[in-house]
Amino acid sequence: MKVLGIESSCDETGVALIDSEKGLLAHAIHTQIDMHRAYGGVVPELASRDHIRRAIALTDQVMHEAGLARGDLDAIAVTEGPGLAGALLVGSSVAHAIGYALGIPVIGVHHLEGHLLSARLADPKPEFPFIALLISGGHTQFMRVESFGKYELLGETLDDAAGEAFDKTAQLLGECYPGGPAVSRLADEGTPGAIVLPRPMLHAPNLDMSFSGLKTAVLTEVKKAADPADPVFRCNLARGFVDAVVDVLTAKAAKAIKQTGIKRLVVAGGVSANKQIRAGLIKTCAKRGARAYFPPMNLCTDNGAMIAVAGLARLERMSKGELESLLGRLSFAAKPRWTLSEAANPDAPQLR
Ligand code: KG4
Ligand code: ZN
Repeated sequence: MKVLGIESSCDETGVALIDSEKGLLAHAIHTQIDMHRAYGGVVPELASRDHIRRAIALTDQVMHEAGLARGDLDAIAVTEGPGLAGALLVGSSVAHAIGYALGIPVIGVHHLEGHLLSARLADPKPEFPFIALLISGGHTQFMRVESFGKYELLGETLDDAAGEAFDKTAQLLGECYPGGPAVSRLADEGTPGAIVLPRPMLHAPNLDMSFSGLKTAVLTEVKKAADPADPVFRCNLARGFVDAVVDVLTAKAAKAIKQTGIKRLVVAGGVSANKQIRAGLIKTCAKRGARAYFPPMNLCTDNGAMIAVAGLARLERMSKGELESLLGRLSFAAKPRWTLSEAANPDAPQLR
């Protein structure tokens, strides 16, 4: 089966084509980073307009690269949420228009389910069950993944996401959006221990985290610095920040391994591209006889391949009736606020 995946929840338009036998056939990403940089963050209306410009062109590019025609597709998977409402609507509109024209099903995918399954595009791929650490611009959470579609939230950030803390720290250090890669590069040049920042909730008896205090601690250091533009100070502060994030994530990962007894840790989401965090988690796992799995480097941040993977997994598990109910459907939803447990158990009562 061949599934086209479309991602447009934030500032990347991602399109990919996956084959159930051959794996990933082609994928393409257009990032809007340069467009949003001038504003210091994502401008939702600009994001939606750019997705409109890119979605069809990227779809054609991917089909061409795979040497296939649209008529060869069996289904389309598209990010249904969470994300920016307008941006989600663009991806869904394109997916449903193509799906309707071709008479094939369109499957709405939860963005985090995509991130969660993206490590299954790596070699070796993690078998179920595994612990997932999702670290992105909007989420930081530990999940227990029993099997496909069976997710249990083990703990999460109570305030800022780790990616958000990276982005805000970068801003305080005078770096451009998105800040993760810039802070990571500065930290590489910094001296460990030169500036020590707090490790929020490090010793809390659960898997919850908090990153907003860390950002405030960075601000305090910048305010009291004699010269905040001094390169040595900037590198040392970045180092202090990264080391604090690594300590918190590795301590919580160790706790999650102990608590669940599961020896596989899947790390996904944009922040999983961070080399200091990767190194810390690999070491933590190795010490406990566990193994850390990451998506391929180019599939850590938002992309269409992860949506195609999740869509294919859903498609393979659908009954004939479920599949038929999707055919010719003209109505669709964009779900800006949508939890993974709601997506996995749509019939269960949800707390809001
Ligand atoms: O998963 P993602 O592409 O989008 C969301 O779903 O949020 O994650 C984006 C986040 C941004 O906060 C960005 O700064 C962070 O991932 N990021 C990184 C790195 N690359 C991207 N953070 C730390 N180190 C990196 N190398
Ligand atoms: Zn994401």
